[in-house]
Amino acid sequence: MDRNLALEVVRVTEAAALAAARLMGRGAKDQADQAAVTAMRNTFDSLDIRGTVVIGEGERDEAPMLYIGEKVGGGSGEDPEVDIAVDPLEGTNLCAFGQPNAWAVVALGEKGNLLHAPDTYMDKIAVGPEVAGVVDIDKSPTENLKAIAAKKRCEIPDLTAIILERDRHNDLIAEVREAGARIRLISDGDVSAAIACCVESTGIDVLFGTGGAPEGVLAACALKCMGGDFQGRLKPRSDEEAARARKMGVDLDKKWQRDELARGDVMFAATGVTTGDMLKGVRYFSGGARTQSIVMRSKSGTIRTIDATHRFDKKPRYDLV
Ligand code: FBP
Repeated sequence: MDRNLALEVVRVTEAAALAAARLMGRGAKDQADQAAVTAMRNTFDSLDIRGTVVIGEGERDEAPMLYIGEKVGGGSGEDPEVDIAVDPLEGTNLCAFGQPNAWAVVALGEKGNLLHAPDTYMDKIAVGPEVAGVVDIDKSPTENLKAIAAKKRCEIPDLTAIILERDRHNDLIAEVREAGARIRLISDGDVSAAIACCVESTGIDVLFGTGGAPEGVLAACALKCMGGDFQGRLKPRSDEEAARARKMGVDLDKKWQRDELARGDVMFAATGVTTGDMLKGVRYFSGGARTQSIVMRSKSGTIRTIDATHRFDKKPRYDLV
């Protein structure tokens, strides 16, 4: 994949963020999601790629745009064939209620290289580069905390775990408390939570818990670029979801390593919708808006933060879609 593609793909997340952020705090999560989807879908056409959505808004019959299998991009002939994973609005509730860390997210891999994850749950563990290789999703949270503390040459009470606040995590939260680690409970957004493990200023050491499987693949792409570690195992919520996953040929018992979820050279881009730990959200001013994005490539390991000023008199009004 051409390295310039990483700088092109950020247009797509910027467009989605600009559209969704207009609806911040309005309590309308579906409307905000739809605005992000429409803007993202339209912007893909400006990229010289032959893309296939492998992680998207759902199956063809349930999503009018960015459905799994949809061909996107304005490329032809020799332009690269790529797998695309999208989450136009990661943290729909965060946007709807004006809370931190709602993002627009896209990851790209060479054709066939991203896991076609079914729309189900995934058990996840994520850590930053300093402790990559020392955790194992098959071990208990206590054992993993001990391994992280040993590698970081600190004590467990010095560590902070980030966990989605859900009833299904009650036992996990109790165990992490018992082990002595600090916890940051979040209401939503486990893609940015996984990435936070790689960003020292967040103070987060490890992500534990169960969230969306598609979000797991997006997180694996990001952590591959950042040198962090990620493991996941699918966790269907029903027999129907399990049957669908098997039909897709995805092994439900397998422990998926980061590089099996995201094979080969991958790119990741995200733009802040609401201001959070790592990215500023969209800030509007008369005639335009400012965005902040992160763009990275696994091949080079380069991580760029891009501050952009958008002029609405010179480009499409993504926020009016
Ligand atoms: P949405 O943006 O689709 O609302 O997802 C937000 C999110 O918190 C993800 O980050 C996470 O993986 C998933 O939801 C967890 O699912 P659930 O809300 O069902 O526990």
